Amino acid sequence: MAKINFNFKLPSFIKQQTLSLGLDIGSHSIKICELHDHDGGLKLISLGSAILPSGTVEDGELQDPEAVGAVIKALVKNLKIKATKAAISISGYSVIMKKVNLTVMTESELAEHIQEEAEQYIPFEIDEVYLDFQDLHTNTETEERTDVMLVAAKKEVINGYLDMLKSAGLKTVIVDVDAFALENSYEANYGNEGNVLLVDIGSAKMNINIIDHGISIFARDIMMGSRQLSEEIQARFGLSFEEAEGLKLGSVPPEDKQEEIEEIFANICTQWIMEIKKAIDFYNSNYVDNPIEKMVLSGGGSKVKGLDQFFSDELDLPVEMFDPFANTKVDTSKIDAAYLHNIAPEMAIAMGLATRVVPF
Ligand SMILES: Nc1ncnc2c1ncn2[C@@H]1O[C@H](COP(=O)(O)OP(=O)(O)OP(=O)(O)O)[C@@H](O)[C@H]1O
Ligand SMILES: [Mg+2]
Repeated sequence: MAKINFNFKLPSFIKQQTLSLGLDIGSHSIKICELHDHDGGLKLISLGSAILPSGTVEDGELQDPEAVGAVIKALVKNLKIKATKAAISISGYSVIMKKVNLTVMTESELAEHIQEEAEQYIPFEIDEVYLDFQDLHTNTETEERTDVMLVAAKKEVINGYLDMLKSAGLKTVIVDVDAFALENSYEANYGNEGNVLLVDIGSAKMNINIIDHGISIFARDIMMGSRQLSEEIQARFGLSFEEAEGLKLGSVPPEDKQEEIEEIFANICTQWIMEIKKAIDFYNSNYVDNPIEKMVLSGGGSKVKGLDQFFSDELDLPVEMFDPFANTKVDTSKIDAAYLHNIAPEMAIAMGLATRVVPF
């Protein structure tokens, strides 16, 4: 399990196993997921989402904290959620994930080394970032060396999230990274067998994480997503964004625009493929004998009809849709099955966040 958590000391012991409220703050919508321990497994207690006013979250940064806080507060209230300790995740330009191969050290030596040497690994001023790391215990052939996943995130951005959540009545206990929350979500449902390419396609970005038996080999965010489709439809036909979004989602009939819309989908999905291929090529050049076995798709943008087949044909890989509740009991008295099925792809990251244990 990827265990990134900026700014908070992990405990030396955990008194009681409590899980965080998973809160995924996307650029299009807020997603909330609450899980409880149940019979040695997990039970889904609450989930929901709420669309954000346009422009309130951009490139992983809060543009309008008050508006975002108000949406979160209303969502928590509507879902009658009592939990207040939340895990959130960040992504985009304000966070850097980097794998470095270092001499084997103890946890505290590593912490010291990274604090001192971080500037050679990350392009940010060291005083301006929160740093965290995880020893992956890979590439240890020579015994004296090991891979360490180093993550740095801008303090200003994280502090903005913490303040906003505080004013919405929540205490942030974990700050994770989208790509690792996605990985935790996958492992909670499917275990850590095999080499899997996880891709979450949101509105403004794609999170890619290639995992090999539970270890992240390559994680990257790409600033492309489903919003591109709506913007292109909007520009092509001179429509409002909402009209274009309706055409994209099929809630507005395409009439004579069908062919051109299909062409737009094909062009943009091809751009996505090109970026995903770069990640696969990087992986393949470093792990020649250990090919990726399948791709698992999540995020609202993955709900484009036929996208799984298109990706499968183009990448020559089996493609599955991610079910973040495949291994979770569901409180059916509170959660409607059809709603759950429809919202599941968007919930992958929130579910991964909800599996994190409250660190105090
Ligand atoms: N059936 C569908 N076909 C195409 N796009 C869809 C479909 N359903 C939802 N979307 C799009 O998915 C996006 C929302 O997905 P999601 O909630 O994963 O994004 P987000 O997490 O808010 O954004 P990001 O992660 O990029 O910040 C919107 O752009 C929405 O239009
Ligand atoms: Mg998202």
